[in-house]
Order: sequence, then C-alpha cells, then structure tokens
Amino acid sequence: MNTTVDRPSWAQPLTDLTGKTVLVIGGAGGVGEGVTRGLLAAGAHVIATARSETKLDEFAARLSSERLSTLRLDLAEPGLDAALAKAAAEHGGLDGAVVSVGDWGPQGRRDLVDLKDDEWAYLIENNLTSVFRALRGLVPVLAPGGALVHVNGGSAEIAWPGHAVLAMSAAAGKSLTRSLAVETRKSGVRVHDLILGVISTRPKRAAGMDHPAWIPAEEVGVHVAELLAGSSPLTGSVVQYFTSRQQGPTTTVPDLG
Ligand SMILES: NC(=O)c1ccc[n+]([C@@H]2O[C@H](COP(=O)([O-])OP(=O)(O)OC[C@H]3O[C@@H](n4cnc5c(N)ncnc54)[C@H](OP(=O)(O)O)[C@@H]3O)[C@@H](O)[C@H]2O)c1
Repeated sequence: MNTTVDRPSWAQPLTDLTGKTVLVIGGAGGVGEGVTRGLLAAGAHVIATARSETKLDEFAARLSSERLSTLRLDLAEPGLDAALAKAAAEHGGLDGAVVSVGDWGPQGRRDLVDLKDDEWAYLIENNLTSVFRALRGLVPVLAPGGALVHVNGGSAEIAWPGHAVLAMSAAAGKSLTRSLAVETRKSGVRVHDLILGVISTRPKRAAGMDHPAWIPAEEVGVHVAELLAGSSPLTGSVVQYFTSRQQGPTTTVPDLG
C-alpha cells in the first residue's frame, strides 16, 4: 500500500477506523486524495469517486491499496440516490461519508457582471446543487452513529472576486450543512462543515505550485479520519476551520482577510 501519511503535531494518538467503510465523493480530486490517504492510514476501507473511469484507474494505481475501491459517480446525473444506496449495500453499509467536490467551470476567472446565464447555471449545478444532492442521498444510507463531512472553502466567509459564484456556493453549502446537522440529530448521524484554507494538493505540487504554509491535503485527511472516528476534540462541533497549518483544526472563526 502506497499510503503513508505524516502525522501532524495535533494528531490524536488513537484513531482507528479498522473495519469501517467510508465513501469519499470527489475522493480522486486534489483534497479528496489527501482525505482518502488519511482514511486509509487510519485503517478504513475507502470508496473514492470521480466522474471519469480513466482518472479513477490512475488514482487506484497510484494509491495501490487493497482497502481502496473506486466508483464512477456524477452528482448531476439522474439516479444518484439509487447509486449511493447500491454502493452502500455492496460494501455492507457506510459508516462515514465525505463530500469534497468543486468545479471552477470552463469560463475561468470572470467578474460577476460578465458572467453569462449558462456559466452561472453550470457553476451552481456543480458547486451547490451537487452538494445538496450528495447530502440528500447520503444521509439515508449512513449507518446510525455514522458521520458526514462536507469539505468547504474559506470563500464561504470572504469575498472572492472573479469567483463570486463559487464563494456564494461555499457560503450556501455551509448553511445547508448547518441546517442538516440539526435535522439529523434525531437519527444519530453527525454532520460537519470543514472550511479549509489553501491546501497543498498533489496536482498543485505536480504543477510546481507549493508553499510551506499551505496545508498538505494529507493533514486534512488526518483530521477527517479523527472526525469520523470520533477521536477529534472537535467531534461535537458542526462548523470547523482548518486554515492554518501551524494551528491545526479549530472552531474559532479565522481572520481570512
Ligand atoms: N485546493 C484547495 O486549495 C482548496 C482550498 C480550500 C477548499 N477546497 C475545497 O475542497 C473541495 C475540493 O476541491 P479540490 O481542490 O480537491 O478540487 P479538485 O481537485 O478539482 O477536485 C474536485 C473533485 O470534485 C469532483 N466533482 C466536481 N463536480 C462534480 C460532480 N458534479 N459530480 C461528482 N463529482 C464532482 C471532481 O470530479 P472529477 O475528478 O471527475 O473531475 C473532483 O474529484 C472543494 O469544496 C474546494 O472548495 C480546496
């Protein structure tokens, strides 16, 4: 297995997901790969998704773990609820799920007043409706006592010129997750919104983009594993932030400028 993960200083000593199954939607993405690696390192069986089989094949070859399964899944396609229920049934149920999706769209950076209707619709579909559909489909298939983490971005809290629809979707995704967390209390499913700062991902590193202050995606994976296992001191908090590598995860709203 090619999934060793360096443990940050704040990591909890006892985080064991052995025998647990976790679905990571967007698991073959930049942040998703770090999350998948963190979950595998904690002993989980992980089902990672992407929209392309080719991407999944490359991903599986890179991670090379017997505890990794892959699933082609597009949150925009019909039949999503059934596809999620089928995945859960095939793997004997889901103990946890992570939603780590984002799509910057083909238009690139563009001021709000220059955005065309179809570009707006594309961005909403793939950054907000996708999150709603994922949350709606996942909650009923999670085992009682299971947990769900929505991976979100710091633009939920600040202006993001040129990417206003992504920022709006992040803020709306945070709101959706908070409401869902209250609605699922009676079913025993925990829901978290994890708001991230700038992440060092494998695709960025491969493109020569990195900075020591950026948070390695694998450290996000360590925290997500702790949240799902219930070993994190932040397990009782719905909204949490991981925007400083030095500080680690926190519930204190950061000054994101
Ligand atoms: N990278 C950062 O520095 C950073 C910082 C803060 C927060 N975040 C957050 O982390 C999350 C993931 O971002 P990322 O950087 O990992 O992006 P990424 O590398 O582009 O990965 C995004 C993933 O989302 C999937 N996806 C997008 N639309 C989808 C849809 N309709 N159905 C199914 N899957 C879909 C993509 O699938 P395909 O693989 O098929 O394309 C991909 O796996 C986002 O919420 C983002 O805001 C990232």
